[in-house]
Amino acid sequence: MRNVTEENLTDLVLARMNAENPRVQQIATALVKHLHAFVREVEPTEEEWMQGIQFLTRTGHTCNDVRQEFILLSDTLGVSMLVDAINNRKGDSEATESTVMGPFHTACANRENGDMIATGPEADEGDPLVVRGRVLSEDGTPLANAKMDVWQASHDGFYDVQPESRQPTGSLRGVFQTDENGEFWFRSIVPLYYPIPTDGPVGEMLKATGRNPMRPSHIHFWVAAEGHESLVTHLFREGDPYLDSDTVFGVKESLIVDFVRNDSPDAAVSYGFNRPFYEVERDFILKKA
Ligand code: BEZ
Ligand code: FE
Repeated sequence: MRNVTEENLTDLVLARMNAENPRVQQIATALVKHLHAFVREVEPTEEEWMQGIQFLTRTGHTCNDVRQEFILLSDTLGVSMLVDAINNRKGDSEATESTVMGPFHTACANRENGDMIATGPEADEGDPLVVRGRVLSEDGTPLANAKMDVWQASHDGFYDVQPESRQPTGSLRGVFQTDENGEFWFRSIVPLYYPIPTDGPVGEMLKATGRNPMRPSHIHFWVAAEGHESLVTHLFREGDPYLDSDTVFGVKESLIVDFVRNDSPDAAVSYGFNRPFYEVERDFILKKA
């Protein structure tokens, strides 16, 4: 075909697609169809198209070992939650709902039940917290030796890996194992809501589209047990001002929990705290694999 026109171009590209792998054929075909439809709808100027290419180039250049700007872009455009929703349809299952993983998970130390995961100045600042619960199968059977990978922001809203953080690396993270009754518990500090990093292309996009960069206060969990599907989720703090405007669309009603204040000095001392603290109790239910 030597007569390429605005009208026949999409069909010409589609006709060239001849992948051996049917899934690759499906994905490549859909990508071309939707990308061409986008361009036909928007009718970008050549300058605008180049700006788009430069935006994606900057997004790539912003990525490094501890910063994944493409995940952040996927998260803030709602794509991560859409992929999550499609892959974790709940149906009428009682299993705990999933939510977005985010870019701040890192491999970290194994911990014992009861350990304090806040280290450095973080341990002496903010409100102490006790988190406890069980990991259960859908039929209610407690799951022993389940792996609970936990990570969270500090009381001033930063993860240890962020340059602005005042915490030592590895603070506010840990990998726990449930005991023989499927129980886990740990001590920490109440996390604050926080803005996702806005000093890169995603920040530009949020600003240009008039959006806030905030995530409501939450704790991340990645729960895995033999014979079960692993679960990536959060617990969100009831009452947080950003529950209805999470910049990555990750909030689900079923994941919002009360952080209950405990003013008993004796209870505080029994946990090694010198001030009032908060308690969260929540079970996680895993689907059978
Ligand atoms: C997080 O909760 O850690 C997170 C999730 C998505 C984007 C940025 C941060
Ligand atoms: Fe987070």
